[in-house]
Amino acid sequence: MHIDILTLFPQMFQGPFGIGIFKRAVERKLVSINIHNIRDYTHDKHHTVDDYAYGGGAGMVLKSEPIFEAVESIKSDIKPRGDMLPIILLTPQGRLFCQQIAQELSQYSSLILICGHYEGVDERVRRHLATDEISIGDYVLSGGELAAMVIVDAVVRLLPGVLGSQASPLDDSHVTGLLEYPQYTHPAIYRGWSVPEVLLSGNHAQIAKWRREQAILRTLERRPELLDKANLNLEERQLVNRFKNHLHKEFFHHYQRLLQLLLYLLCLNTLLIH
Ligand code: ADE
Repeated sequence: MHIDILTLFPQMFQGPFGIGIFKRAVERKLVSINIHNIRDYTHDKHHTVDDYAYGGGAGMVLKSEPIFEAVESIKSDIKPRGDMLPIILLTPQGRLFCQQIAQELSQYSSLILICGHYEGVDERVRRHLATDEISIGDYVLSGGELAAMVIVDAVVRLLPGVLGSQASPLDDSHVTGLLEYPQYTHPAIYRGWSVPEVLLSGNHAQIAKWRREQAILRTLERRPELLDKANLNLEERQLVNRFKNHLHKEFFHHYQRLLQLLLYLLCLNTLLIH
């Protein structure tokens, strides 16, 4: 996969892409990541990349010309597989990034990412150049660089061969629609906290069953809304319902105790007054 990133701050990308899985993936030619400075595509003496907003208002807007020229120049060097080349603008207004989008993007042979900055990007970039707009969350960053790094990380680790033969991204949280089950390594007992018995049993069927249940329960506890879309069989749906009933019962039990206590305090208060 070829990834081209357009930014005003190429220095920001020096650290993360030079280590760990990226370094190995680049060395093994599984991915190439090219960082382009938008400023290099300006023609004036001051290398102007931004300007005041028409209509007034605070803040500067990134100009369309250098971004169009950068993308056109990069595109002329790329021969994407098929003819689809996503040109992604990173913006808090984009569709919300998730594992499914990472998987979708990992299928392309090339990606172009445009990092926005300042108060925004000229609307013509959105309308007539970008083919997609992505946000990494409902918060505003000072630029699209960190968002681009997040997306590149999530996509590159899905490319065949990047994680090596041992590790598989298939069990990751969110891939199955569930959060990942708890993991343990040596020692079996640490400060009195032991590893669940089943994981030491060597019984692979039991271990798989336990992990699946744990993933379901963990998702139910932390992100119950994910379960609506998760692919669960009948038995697993029943497990979810049993656990939900248990939680409801517990809730009502506590609620009842609280009401009793309030009633008691009220009586006590009345008695004391009279
Ligand atoms: N640029 C600024 N904030 C952003 C966000 N949340 N996601 C993507 N790009 C951004």
